[in-house]
Amino acid sequence: MRNNNATTVLQTKYPLVQAPMSWMTDANLVATVSEAGGLGVLGLNAGQRDVTSSPEETANRMRQQIQLVKSKTTKPFGINIVAPRSGQSLSDAIFTDALLQMAYEENVTHFVVVGEAHEELFKQIKLHDGILIFRPSTPTIEQAQLAEKLGTDLLVATGSDEGGELPEQEAGTFTIVPAIVDAVNIPVLAASGINDHRGVKAALALGAAGVYIGSRFLVTDESPMADEVKKYVIRSNFDDLVRVSAIRRSLKTPAALRYADMYRIDPQKDTETLIRQHGGMRPGMLEADFNQGVISVNIGINEINEQSSVAELVESLMTDII
Ligand SMILES: Cc1cc2nc3c(=O)[nH]c(=O)nc-3n(C[C@H](O)[C@H](O)[C@H](O)COP(=O)(O)O)c2cc1C
Repeated sequence: MRNNNATTVLQTKYPLVQAPMSWMTDANLVATVSEAGGLGVLGLNAGQRDVTSSPEETANRMRQQIQLVKSKTTKPFGINIVAPRSGQSLSDAIFTDALLQMAYEENVTHFVVVGEAHEELFKQIKLHDGILIFRPSTPTIEQAQLAEKLGTDLLVATGSDEGGELPEQEAGTFTIVPAIVDAVNIPVLAASGINDHRGVKAALALGAAGVYIGSRFLVTDESPMADEVKKYVIRSNFDDLVRVSAIRRSLKTPAALRYADMYRIDPQKDTETLIRQHGGMRPGMLEADFNQGVISVNIGINEINEQSSVAELVESLMTDII
């Protein structure tokens, strides 16, 4: 019997998860989303302005963000966990391991895992009574069914419209959501390109139990993204995006146009590594340094026409949903 109730699993008012977006999340955004009735999720580097190469420091920084969220809301929230690569054990994935041990100490309840289904990781989270929300970075029927078998509570089906890292295949949201919904008996959240209540309704019509939204939350009062970038996204359209690497689109900043040129001339060139070496999403999105940075958002940005508070956004997304 199919379980299609996302709010029961999420323990939220609405079937809505704010997707983790690394630097572009912080305790304030996450607590506000949870207070508004969705599930806020702290991304890797949440609330930070610089990187650390220490797993202990990474876990400590996340602990501070978790404690800050708890000081602002008693509602549930989650943290992002990157699954170890296939063949890698949990203890070898030192950043993930450090984050998990800290999260158990802090009684974190919701774990948003991204990557490939990983038996040891999933078992450990379930052993700690965690609610496991799994987003395969490239959704396939095989990954979905394996994730269900390994105890996933909520599965996220991501289409190629998304902001952030793109799935390896081209399947858009309208293709991937019903395909995954039909393949499993656990509730599925639709992700990618969902920017207004029409998108939410379409996702539910495709059989999703709820939605998992990233880019749209960037353009809210509470988002830590630079104000100049919020305005840039609002005035941009889908044809203002360009492919800068095998797994990323960006608005056409001067830096993005340079990467796009390199990638067009030689698609084998690893421009993604170059982007990461230059700070990833941080310079472009957090510091509005368009000469150095890229701006990664979904391709449905025509529907992002104004900045609003998180509370207003959540209410408008969830119009007529419950
Ligand atoms: C700027 C940005 C950064 C992201 N960083 C992460 C990340 O660190 N970890 C992760 O699991 N997903 C990350 N994502 C992907 C989102 O969690 C989510 O899958 C995606 O935003 C959903 O599609 P949408 O942007 O079309 O709503 C990122 C997305 C964006 C836009």
